Amino acid sequence: MELLFVNGCMRKESRTEALARRWIQRQGFASVCELRIGLMGDLTPLDNMGIVAYGDAVSAGCYDHSMFRFAKQFASASHILIAAPFWNFSLPAKLHDYLELVCTQGLTFSVDEKGAYHSLCHAQRLAFVMTSGGRIANPSDDHAFGLIRTLNEQFWHIPHLECVVAEGLDAANANVDVLLDAALDTATVLT
Ligand SMILES: Cc1cc2nc3c(=O)[nH]c(=O)nc-3n(C[C@H](O)[C@H](O)[C@H](O)COP(=O)(O)O)c2cc1C
Repeated sequence: MELLFVNGCMRKESRTEALARRWIQRQGFASVCELRIGLMGDLTPLDNMGIVAYGDAVSAGCYDHSMFRFAKQFASASHILIAAPFWNFSLPAKLHDYLELVCTQGLTFSVDEKGAYHSLCHAQRLAFVMTSGGRIANPSDDHAFGLIRTLNEQFWHIPHLECVVAEGLDAANANVDVLLDAALDTATVLT
């Protein structure tokens, strides 16, 4: 059982990464393929030039360009973990860049003549791990897990979606170790 670990943690001493590694250990994956999003210099957002190459490739159904390697890998993975800190009620921009490329029509989803989306992903399980400095009023409505949930509902249709969130890590009296373990014990399975 192999896990695709999309590591969107940016700090060297990241608590989110620590939580993700505890989650991986509990699940007992035999092998882990890790993408360190913050270290990928060639992972860039779709800008004026990029969107032309992207659009041409999607129209032609020709996905040879290296920008499509992320979507190909995501589509073929059987288990996926995305980990990221909560930044400005959203996700780190670099992880957004990655997700933008993962959402490639023809690789991770298709659209039929009526405009309905069909998943091209093989994964059975998608987990999202996050930590935040403060409290999150409604995790499903923010732009972090809320985004992942919407992308899965609309494009990927991965049947098992779960969310592990440790909140309030930046509070003065926070016991980070205890909060991380408590988050693992109260993971929310959404589908
Ligand atoms: C750029 C930045 C933006 C942040 N925005 C928020 C926020 O909107 N809400 C919140 O509760 N915490 C916010 N925080 C605090 C982080 O979510 C918190 O410290 C988290 O545990 C960091 O994870 P890490 O240890 O994996 O880096 C922010 C931190 C940074 C550096």
